[in-house]
Amino acid sequence: MLDPAQGIHAPNSDPAALAEHIRPLIAGNWKMHGMAPQLSEIEAVAASVKATPPPADVLICLPATLITRAVQTAAGRFAIGGENCSAQISGSFTGDLSAEMLKDAGARAVIVGHSERRQYHGETDAIVAAKAKAARRAGLLAIICIGETNAQRLAGKALSVCAEQIAGSVPDGMTASGTAIGYEPLWAIGSGHMPTPEQIIEMHTHIRQCLTHCLGAEGKKLRILYGGSVKSSNARAILALPEVGGVLVGGASLKAADFLAICGATPVSA
Ligand code: 13P
Repeated sequence: MLDPAQGIHAPNSDPAALAEHIRPLIAGNWKMHGMAPQLSEIEAVAASVKATPPPADVLICLPATLITRAVQTAAGRFAIGGENCSAQISGSFTGDLSAEMLKDAGARAVIVGHSERRQYHGETDAIVAAKAKAARRAGLLAIICIGETNAQRLAGKALSVCAEQIAGSVPDGMTASGTAIGYEPLWAIGSGHMPTPEQIIEMHTHIRQCLTHCLGAEGKKLRILYGGSVKSSNARAILALPEVGGVLVGGASLKAADFLAICGATPVSA
């Protein structure tokens, strides 16, 4: 569970231990799905996490309309997050929500720069970086998303595209306890197509190098999540890769049974 007192690495706060092993984060992203009846899924996740705590931090990011009720329903068994925030604190920005408002509603984390925000709302790296700073300002975990398109991968540009996105979207001074990277190749999102383990290892190793370059020691520790068509059937193999610090799950996070099976696929050594 995300521990507000100790950041995201609650049970493993010894920095030396942390360098050797990072407790995974299993994060769901409901996208634009979910109304009151679906709170029963949150209730089921909370009951299971209470009965059988997984060896991972658990988070579900929800539409803002559900956050307050979901926080009550989750009853502290796992964390609830938002899917987007404004870079501003408050003001005349009709329809926007600040990171502080998400925090006030009980959220502990926020996704910024999801490819669907970049694609449909024109969010640039600079906008994503401003949102990540807003998350830090509010004390939320920022899950900063990056990832290449199929055309970019086919052109041999996957590594350079992601390096550029990290350089532009990850502000200076972000910490391991306040930040995670979501690597989500666009061609894997909702498609059922997955990168090979070798491709995931190559990219996560590359992202680690980029993070260490821009954040120093903190960059060595922060979690790099894989996202894109994660299901209960493939989660065990993905989470077994030591380069993978967790997963960001779309469709398979909507049903408690599917999401819990993914939580249960975390290696026990974690
Ligand atoms: P899917 O798991 O449905 O492919 O979605 C991935 C995603 O975009 C999570 O943020």
